[in-house]
Amino acid sequence: MSKLGTYVWQLPGIESQPLSNSRISRVERLQFAGNRLMVNALKLAIGVIPIRRPQLLVGADATRRLAEAAAERSLKKILIMTTAGMVKRGQAGPLVRALELQRITPVIYDGVQPDPTWEVVNDALELLQAEACDGIVALGGGSAMDSAKVVAVAAANDGKPERLVGYFKGRRKPLPLFAVPTTAGSGSEATIAAVISDDRTHSKSFVIDSRLTPLAAALEPRLMTGLSPALTAATGMDALTHAIEAYIGVIGTTETDRYAREAVQLIFRYLQPACSNGADLEAREALSIASYKAGCAFTQASVGYVHAISHQLGAYYGLPHGLGNAILLPEVLEFCGQSVAEKLAQLAVLTGLGEESEPEDILAQKFVVHIRYLNRELGVPATVAELRAEDIPGIARRALREALLNYPVPRQMGRADCEALLQGLLVAREPDENDSIDAALARVA
Ligand SMILES: [Fe+2]
Repeated sequence: MSKLGTYVWQLPGIESQPLSNSRISRVERLQFAGNRLMVNALKLAIGVIPIRRPQLLVGADATRRLAEAAAERSLKKILIMTTAGMVKRGQAGPLVRALELQRITPVIYDGVQPDPTWEVVNDALELLQAEACDGIVALGGGSAMDSAKVVAVAAANDGKPERLVGYFKGRRKPLPLFAVPTTAGSGSEATIAAVISDDRTHSKSFVIDSRLTPLAAALEPRLMTGLSPALTAATGMDALTHAIEAYIGVIGTTETDRYAREAVQLIFRYLQPACSNGADLEAREALSIASYKAGCAFTQASVGYVHAISHQLGAYYGLPHGLGNAILLPEVLEFCGQSVAEKLAQLAVLTGLGEESEPEDILAQKFVVHIRYLNRELGVPATVAELRAEDIPGIARRALREALLNYPVPRQMGRADCEALLQGLLVAREPDENDSIDAALARVA
C-alpha cells in the first residue's frame, strides 16, 4: 500500500503518480509563510465577525412563507432578480402570486446570466431605482443570489457598484434581501460573499460583507425537479466540495465542522437518487439543505485548492464551476495526503465507508475512492477535455496566487506540484467500467 502524501491514492489498475515535496523553492516557502500569517488573521477575524444565518424556510410552502416574512417587514415593492429561462418556464409564477397575496408589488428583472457581470448588476440596480423597490428576492442559483446581493448593497450606498469590491465597503446596510435558490450547490443563500465577473478581463471580483446574507431563504424542492441530471450532479458536487474543503481547511470551528459533516452525509445519501429521478422530492429537499449547510461551513471556514484551480479552468475554458470542482476534488485530496488523512477518515466512518477500527490511511483512501466512483456514476469525467498543455503554467500560477491570498489550505502546493496535478488531468484515468464501488473499497482494505 502506498504511503499517503507520497503517491496518489489510486484505484486498482491505475498507475500511481509520485508527488514530491522536494520541489518547493525558497521563494515558495516564503510565500507559504505569508499565507500562514494571512490564515492566522482570518482565523482571528472569523472569531469576532458576527455571521447572520438566514431564516430557513423549508418545504412545499416555503415561497409563501418567504412572502409573509417580506410582508412582516412592511415591504411594498420587491425586485425579483432571476433569469429569462426561469420566467419562460413559469417558475417565477408562484413567487409572484405569493407576493401579490401579501399586497407586495413584484417587479421582475430577468437579465441574470451565469457568471453575472457588472452590467447585470447595473441594469438591475437601474430598474430597482426607477421602480422605487424597497426589497429584493433572488430567484435562481448562485448567479441570481450573488448579483442580487451586490444590487442590495449598491442600492443602499452611493457611487458605482464596482467600488464595493473588497471587504465591508458599503457604509449603509443592504436593502432587505431574500433568496429562493433553484439549484442545490452554491450555498450563496448562507454566505457573506458575492462573486461578480468582468467580461472584458475574465477576472472575478469578490464583494464580502457579513450583512450580505439574505434575511430568509426558501428551500422549495419542487423548484428543483426540472434540473437535468448533469446540472444536479455538478451543483451537488460543488456543495460537496464546499463541505469537504471547509472541513479539511485549518480554520474550521466546531460549528463549521458540524455543518460540513452534515452536508457530506446528506450529499452522499441523496445525490445519486436526485440524479436518477429528478422528481424525488425527498432527495431534492435533502440536497437543498445540504447545500445550505455547506454554505454555512465554507462562508467561515473557506475553501481551498479545488476552488482555486477550478476558477482558472472556468476562466480559461468556461468549464462549469461544479464540474471543475468534481473533477479536481479527488486529485486535490490525494495531493493533501497525510495532512487530511484524519479528517477524511472521520468522514469515511461517518458515511459508512468503513469502521472506526480500521487504519486511518485506509479509511481516508476509501473516502477518495468513493468520490472517484461517485463521479463516474454521475457521468463526471476524470479529465478536462479542453485543457491544453501549454496553458498549464499560467493556470497553475493564477490558481496558486488565488490560494496564497485567500485560502487556509491544509497542505501547501508548490508550482511544480500544481503543474503535475494539472498534467494528470490531460490523461484519462477513468475507473474500470465493470468495477463496482464495493469491490474497489474492499480492495483498498
Ligand atoms: Fe463553489
